[in-house]
Amino acid sequence: MGLWLSRLASLFGGDQEARILVLGLDNAGKTTILYRLQVGEVVSTIPTIGFNVETVNYKNIRFQVWDLGGQTSIRPYWRCYYPNTHAVIFVVDAADADRLPTAASEFSAILAEDELADAVVLVYANKQDLPGALDDGAVAAGLGLPSLKARDWAIFKSSAARGEGLFEGLDWLAGVLKAKRK
Ligand code: GTP
Ligand code: MG
Repeated sequence: MGLWLSRLASLFGGDQEARILVLGLDNAGKTTILYRLQVGEVVSTIPTIGFNVETVNYKNIRFQVWDLGGQTSIRPYWRCYYPNTHAVIFVVDAADADRLPTAASEFSAILAEDELADAVVLVYANKQDLPGALDDGAVAAGLGLPSLKARDWAIFKSSAARGEGLFEGLDWLAGVLKAKRK
């Protein structure tokens, strides 16, 4: 499509672009989720040092999805990616209850960032296929989600391994981003 035609299409709501950051502790499943959304398959991952970025087209939105490494030593670099972000997808390993408090403190640091003040927040309580995984209510409580004011947020149970719950979350995100644009 020519440039003028794509501008015309976007004027009439044909397409919309959204910059999305996928954040969360190491081993939460961020990279697995990115490629599940993009290619619909489980890819074998290694811990991300730096980032992966892919475009996911869904519901007339071009999601530019940035998946950042979550290891302790590289979390300080997340902030370099904050400007112009429309939404944060925060991924929690729901089977790792021991590290939920650590995830919660990283999550509250993200929410406190001025540059992310307008960002919509989608949380995946991931790894639901594992025995003993906390459900969405328990993960929400652990992160302090119910007391969040003045923020569009939602939490979805997911299993990136089985491909469950991911597009339900993206559906919600697409709806909120479209409504915000009006
Ligand atoms: P960093 O890049 O280090 O921040 O980790 P990450 O959040 O990108 O995690 P990654 O996607 O690499 O997944 C870590 C491990 O968890 C891999 O062995 C994945 O196969 C596994 N994994 C991801 N999602 C799921 C899931 O839903 N269920 C199960 N059982 N394993 C999962
Ligand atoms: Mg990764």
